[in-house]
Amino acid sequence: MIQLVIGSQWGDEGKGKIVDMMAEKSDLVVRFHGGNNAGHTVVVNGKKFPFHLIPSGILQKKPVVVIADGVVIDPDVLLEEMAIFEKMGINLKKKLLISPRCHLIMPYHKELDQAYENARGKNKLGTTKRGIGPVYADKVSYNGIRIYELMNWPLFVEKFKFQTEIKNKILVVFDVAPIKVEACLPIFKKLAEKIRPMVGDTFSLFQKAISQKKRILLEGAHGVMLDNSFGLYPFVTASNVIEGGVNIGSSIPSKRIDEIWGVVKAYTSRVGGGPLPTELFDKTADGIRERGYEYGTTTGRPRRVGWLDLPAVKFACQLSSINRIAITKIDILSGLSQIKVCVGYKLSGKKIEFSQCGYQELEKLTPIYKSFPGWKEEISKIKSFKKLPVNCQKYIKFVEKYLEVKVKIVSVSPEREASILL
Ligand code: IMP
Repeated sequence: MIQLVIGSQWGDEGKGKIVDMMAEKSDLVVRFHGGNNAGHTVVVNGKKFPFHLIPSGILQKKPVVVIADGVVIDPDVLLEEMAIFEKMGINLKKKLLISPRCHLIMPYHKELDQAYENARGKNKLGTTKRGIGPVYADKVSYNGIRIYELMNWPLFVEKFKFQTEIKNKILVVFDVAPIKVEACLPIFKKLAEKIRPMVGDTFSLFQKAISQKKRILLEGAHGVMLDNSFGLYPFVTASNVIEGGVNIGSSIPSKRIDEIWGVVKAYTSRVGGGPLPTELFDKTADGIRERGYEYGTTTGRPRRVGWLDLPAVKFACQLSSINRIAITKIDILSGLSQIKVCVGYKLSGKKIEFSQCGYQELEKLTPIYKSFPGWKEEISKIKSFKKLPVNCQKYIKFVEKYLEVKVKIVSVSPEREASILL
């Protein structure tokens, strides 16, 4: 059985919790794209665990967690996360496998990310400045350095020196101090020694697991609106977030996936720039931001928030053949007298489809809203759908009908246990 969990909006939908729940029964939990630009928070017994790189399933007893081919690795972050989990008594040699095909985020990638953002001035994209765009650019232009090279030290040093020479020429143009290779080598040496026992053949592991009908859980990062091809380019990330990204980023054929879960937050949020048609700027937004603690897990930036944008989510469902929905953070809407959802858009008075809009159109759209009466009750302890306030049930049923995909999980608080299964 292969399950995939994808964010259907702009990231931060609460995928970490859903993955953590499903990971309990999984044999393998796999990350297949992105890097430490992603941030997931899982709450266990009131304690928060933020993750950026190591798959969320690490806290569950059963699964082996895999950082697969399409993930990009920052050495500092991987070492830091490994140290945290080792301190918690987790035996990473048994628990973690890393693909040699993963590309490394080098110091010049982070400098370039920052330099490009500075150069864009008022048109900056709002990247996480973790070097994500530049590392994937190097990957596709054959200039990348991978874990494979890191496992062969002289080759790694040679490639690092060559790439740094080129990148320093670019950095000078941006008035940025050049990178000194010798100063950076110790951290890479440390990483190489630390991860050597955990680097292995992920392809064979997956093939064997598929033939033995093991449970594989694919943990998507970010959200479909940030997909490099189908998101609101250029306000996107550098990897492919959609279902097709699984094959590219892990070697697991998409055709093998049984369940494709779309995680839908009950409202919209976004960090970084770009259009957000249903964005709110009033007290309702402040209230949702505070109650939902909408601050970036990676950068700490306050997130922009707005009403649920159903045409955007439907686009994500159709693109990725999403066949199950998990609604998250619906408890955050408790107490609002009125809740709106976007059910379409108008541009210059005429109806327009989400798929027809580039970012310039989206900036000018007028959302068409449907209003729902809210509910006052606190719902975070409720365990069955029927016990939810009627207005909350109506909201969920409307989302299901609009998306034409069954809602199978309703998450009513960050805690692992607080989920209603339908
Ligand atoms: P980058 O991925 O750092 O290059 O950033 C590109 C855009 O994607 C920026 O708007 C980021 O804020 C956004 N982004 C990247 N990863 C995430 C995520 O996991 N959650 C939310 N936004 C993200």
